[in-house]
Amino acid sequence: MTVPKSVRDRARTLHSELHKHNYLYYSRDDPLIPDAEYDQLLRELQSIEAEYPELVTADSPTQRVGAAPLKAFGEVHHEMRMLSLDNAFSDEELMDFDRRVRDRLETDSVEYAAEPKLDGLAISLLYQDGKLVRAATRGDGETGEDVTQNVRTIASVPLKLSGAAIPGVLEVRGEVYMSHAGFAALNRLAAEQGSKPFVNPRNAAAGSLRQLDPAITAQRSLEMFCYGVGKVTGGTLASTHIDILAQLQEWHLRVYEDVQCVSGVAGCMGYYEQYRQQRDTLPFEIDGVVFKVNRLDQQSSLGFVARAPRWAIARKFPAQERETTVQDIEVQVGRTGALTPVARLEPVFVGGVTVTNATLHNEEEVQRKDVRTGDAVIVRRAGDVIPEVVRVLREKRRRGARKFHMPARCPVCGSHVMRVQGETAVRCSGGLFCPAQRKEAIKHFASRRALDIEGLGDKLVEQLVEKSLIHDVSDLYQLTIDDLAGLERMAEKSASNLVEALQASKSTSLARFIYALGIREVGETTAQTLAREFRDLDAVMAADAETLEAVPDVGPVVATRIREFFAEQHNRDVIAKLLDAGIHWELVEQPRQQPLAGKTFVLTGTLSMPRAELKDRLQSLGARVTGSVSKNTDFVVAGENPGSKHDKAVKLGIAILDEAACVKLVSG
Ligand code: IVH
Repeated sequence: MTVPKSVRDRARTLHSELHKHNYLYYSRDDPLIPDAEYDQLLRELQSIEAEYPELVTADSPTQRVGAAPLKAFGEVHHEMRMLSLDNAFSDEELMDFDRRVRDRLETDSVEYAAEPKLDGLAISLLYQDGKLVRAATRGDGETGEDVTQNVRTIASVPLKLSGAAIPGVLEVRGEVYMSHAGFAALNRLAAEQGSKPFVNPRNAAAGSLRQLDPAITAQRSLEMFCYGVGKVTGGTLASTHIDILAQLQEWHLRVYEDVQCVSGVAGCMGYYEQYRQQRDTLPFEIDGVVFKVNRLDQQSSLGFVARAPRWAIARKFPAQERETTVQDIEVQVGRTGALTPVARLEPVFVGGVTVTNATLHNEEEVQRKDVRTGDAVIVRRAGDVIPEVVRVLREKRRRGARKFHMPARCPVCGSHVMRVQGETAVRCSGGLFCPAQRKEAIKHFASRRALDIEGLGDKLVEQLVEKSLIHDVSDLYQLTIDDLAGLERMAEKSASNLVEALQASKSTSLARFIYALGIREVGETTAQTLAREFRDLDAVMAADAETLEAVPDVGPVVATRIREFFAEQHNRDVIAKLLDAGIHWELVEQPRQQPLAGKTFVLTGTLSMPRAELKDRLQSLGARVTGSVSKNTDFVVAGENPGSKHDKAVKLGIAILDEAACVKLVSG
């Protein structure tokens, strides 16, 4: 069907009108027309699109309600790594930061851009020719998840940019968050529906963005503020951070209105103080403020260290403390049998979440702080740190409050409790006879960094063990849809999804498999090292102490734990059953020759091949690639218009390669 010109024109007008009102309403908080009028325009466009589906474009204002659900998120490789921030927890640490910046820049005072540190999650938006084509989470900084469909539902994210001189490729970065009001509404709904509430706005935002069904995300009130750019080509940006933010705003991206340009550390402290006092009155959660060197040329001469830029710092607010009462002290049994005392608390809102438990770590700690049931205590929570009991308000203690003692038997399985010399932890001796240890071992096996079995949550593992449907991890692979469908909160659909996820988890890596076994002292990094060094499970299982200790980072304790684990017939049986069930991995490649091991490279200027590619190739040959030139740099690779890094290399007498020479080097 051809679309009459008049209809096409009307649709175009509606597009631009609706985009404009969206921007004024959601990003500027300054609506021009009443909501009802907006709804009418939107409905008009919807009905035109219903009649002429060819008019539906990805950037149409009607496309916010959510596209069809996904099976899984795709991966996105960040061409420019998404960095994190270093933290300053005191004025002294902030002054140290400023001193380092001034020393490196050889200047007396630096201008900083000051902005709030929003407590949400970092998102990268990619605009091509002004259209939103991709949105991704930060992930590990190198690789994130493709959440385009979900981000499209966020009203303050423009699907199309407006204004002049928009770069052909513009990657914008910012924070997606949920306001206090949105969070309260979501949890009210959760309570009505009898589902579990979210602990804080950040988790709610992250959970909402990681929904496979965008229609669910669309119902959550997510918002976004932009705080910087990533990759930009085909256009020019201003030369200071604040002017770039102003440009973003002109293009209709949402930027926080009170980003200030402050002078020196005194200016930073003033801004921090202002926000520390204002914190509770803001409509959203912030956990500090961020200071960024305002001038871009200064930013680039400062460069980066590891995961964070040298030109920015987050000044975090102090941990919050509140008073509450200890209702009980319970003892939890962990994966390795360690018994941990936990204080059950009268719920209290502290540091942005409602806290109901605080770990007391071990018996010594309980004695030292002398925490007793019924005590009034001060609890503290900062950032992601587990809440802790700071101290007891002794003057409020009731008479007869009894001292805490570790039980002599495991509270779950009744086995004797062992005290190991030289360790503070006491352990249940029940091993895998103890249901608590079994449950924890299975939860660990299924966790994201282990075999990553989607849909096998803690509650489900508990049910499976309690109903004796599984005894160890290998039983997971015998579960059928029938076994699962009868369980609480398990419909046929989720049962079949889980069976599928189990099937998918069979294809893994040796490192994940070793980590998933839950050998004491063998964390993710050690598991990766073992996989790399031995390349084969049988070799790890057969290794003697000496061979194990020859592996980097494996000392006598870790070696003993590994040998104890594989000496246990029960563990060998479970491994055999897992392999029988079809768990497999690709052979780990023999590490290639690393001719550039120990050499540090810095890339600068415009290169003809993507910088990330050259970096990867250098790294794959063992080189380190860093962001700034120092006396430890071995080579500077200078593209066109190399700038200050090149000059510094000349000054320090460091070898300079042009791109062709570097390519020759990596091509061997
Ligand atoms: S800038 C290169 N600015 O904090 C610097 N980050 O702890 C990259 N965050 O991953 C970040 N508000 O998710 C920046 N105004 C702000 C921020 C901010 C919140 C988050 C962001 C980042 C994390 C680092």
